[in-house]
Amino acid sequence: MRKKIVAGNWKMNTTVAKGEELAAAVAEKSKETGETLLVLAPPFTHLTKVADKIKGSQVQLSAQNCAAETSGAYTGEVAASMIADTGAKYCILGHSERREYYGETDATLNKKLEQCYANGLIPIFCVGEKLNDRESENHFNVVKTQLENTVFNLNDEQFGKIIIAYEPVWAIGTGKTASSEQAQEMHAFIRRILTEKFGAKADCTSILYGGSCNPSNAKALFANKDVDGGLIGGASLKVDDFIAIATSF
Ligand code: PGA
Repeated sequence: MRKKIVAGNWKMNTTVAKGEELAAAVAEKSKETGETLLVLAPPFTHLTKVADKIKGSQVQLSAQNCAAETSGAYTGEVAASMIADTGAKYCILGHSERREYYGETDATLNKKLEQCYANGLIPIFCVGEKLNDRESENHFNVVKTQLENTVFNLNDEQFGKIIIAYEPVWAIGTGKTASSEQAQEMHAFIRRILTEKFGAKADCTSILYGGSCNPSNAKALFANKDVDGGLIGGASLKVDDFIAIATSF
């Protein structure tokens, strides 16, 4: 009933030409990935070119971020309307790198969520605790607060469209993956608090795992009842690894 999704977050990697090559290869191989929805999130500069390469395939396009404002004098920002105009249907929001290096707060993220919905983009909304939160056993509280301050403000219709990505910060780009049990425990917790707030609709919310997910650990992670796929960083830059992950259900 819930959609299985594997999304590739390319971060600040690849030239436009390399990105086109990668996107074309993913589109070609997406024939092997069955019902799983594949999403590619290249840098802004690549969006229109990648859109061309995935046209006609089952691969969808995402941005990695969007502006909190609609348009105007915001040098260096990219509006959600501009992203939608490239053919993108999704937008990653609240990635821990944005929160950590660019000071994105829950208040900013609420504005960005509104921008996504106003422009028909589906947010892939990231939450996750830092290492010290987990070591002090505060990880459930941290994730709950992140959701309460943002996703809980959505109306039912908006909530019905969101994708959640649980990305423990200590597992991102570190080679340290959450164990299958740790992932399931947190995903079930997230679904429970979303159900308390939004009711049975939360049964249909895809909750993705992110953080050093690769072809060797994807199967164990995706076998969990509440893990509906992955948000993949490093391994999404290699077509064979990305497709291997996408066929790990
Ligand atoms: P990683 O990144 O797979 O390289 O750990 C995941 C992410 O940051 O989305």
